[in-house]
Amino acid sequence: MKAVGLLKYLPIDNPESLIDLDLPKPQPQGRDLLVAVRAVSVNPIDCKQRAPKDRIEPKPRVLGWDACGVVEAVGPEATLFKPGDAVYYAGDITRPGSNSEYQLVDERIVGHKPRKLSAAQAAALPLTAVTAWESLFDRLRIARNGQDRGRRILIIGGAGGVGSIAIQFAKRIARLNVIATASRPESVEWCRAMGADEVIDHRGYLASQLQERGIEGVDWILCCNDTDQHFAAMAVAIQPQGLICALVDSVQPHDLTVLKAKSAGFVWESMFTRSRFRTADMVEQHKILNRVADLIDGGEIRSTLGEVLGRIDAATLRQAHARIESGRSIGKLVLEGF
Ligand SMILES: NC(=O)c1ccc[n+]([C@@H]2O[C@H](COP(=O)([O-])OP(=O)(O)OC[C@H]3O[C@@H](n4cnc5c(N)ncnc54)[C@H](OP(=O)(O)O)[C@@H]3O)[C@@H](O)[C@H]2O)c1
Repeated sequence: MKAVGLLKYLPIDNPESLIDLDLPKPQPQGRDLLVAVRAVSVNPIDCKQRAPKDRIEPKPRVLGWDACGVVEAVGPEATLFKPGDAVYYAGDITRPGSNSEYQLVDERIVGHKPRKLSAAQAAALPLTAVTAWESLFDRLRIARNGQDRGRRILIIGGAGGVGSIAIQFAKRIARLNVIATASRPESVEWCRAMGADEVIDHRGYLASQLQERGIEGVDWILCCNDTDQHFAAMAVAIQPQGLICALVDSVQPHDLTVLKAKSAGFVWESMFTRSRFRTADMVEQHKILNRVADLIDGGEIRSTLGEVLGRIDAATLRQAHARIESGRSIGKLVLEGF
């Protein structure tokens, strides 16, 4: 089968950083599905995994953690899907990724593809939708039934892949007042199109921009970018008893005692936790993806697809990685077909 992967960890302008491969087609065991991949999207995690380092893989390593495809075969213990089902999923960081014609994925982290979306529109969603859902509803414990209606959330990095879908969940499911951050006219406009009530600029100090708008503080913060840059402002902007959720590793140490007087909380989200540790509630990601598909098909949420770059091959994936590494991506970049 065709696949794209790497042996060496090189800068993205090196043609060997991602290479076209011919690999054996895998066979499903246990609860695995064998999926014929139709479209994939590219996330910053792909670039982080590919980042230059002094290591050579003994066998080609396939990256990619977002796909839409069709189930070709199921393992003997699979019960949730059958051959022919259209599916979408992010996958498991400890296993080969989705940049290949066929991929094995545990059915507990797979959802039925939204019926109203094309393969490319659906491939844009799973990793970021699971991340945003787990962040808002599992980590920040925001009510999904509208009981928190009108309370405030700050979403830092609003026009990125995660921010785009998080704004929609916060606005359309939780009915919150959403303040997003963006730094360019086109990303500001995108945040508003996703449903943000206000947009402030993450190039400036966020806490004072809130104060200038008469906003004393926010009940929740979802930080989708640069935890180090924004930590001090988040500690100031969070309301007493508020909660902050961060997605991006910090490089510097941060003093959590600054949150004590406010009894405020800080929590990490990693969307790979459930699959990496095979947690007892791993099947929640199957349920989340199915709920998101229903919300899409019901017209409440829209795909965050920004652009389809071309076919799934090494040259196009190198372009996509370079775009993500620029840090100025809006919505999601998708590749379709082999
Ligand atoms: N922990 C997890 O489970 C998890 C899951 C998904 C993603 N992540 C991580 O979360 C981060 C965001 O992912 P993504 O898919 O949303 O990325 P993305 O689509 O590449 O994000 C691009 C956006 O980031 C904004 N941005 C750039 N610099 C910023 C800064 N200093 N502060 C705030 N925003 C900034 C840009 O806005 P402007 O163009 O307006 O400047 C741009 O729209 C990545 O580091 C990714 O690895 C973690």
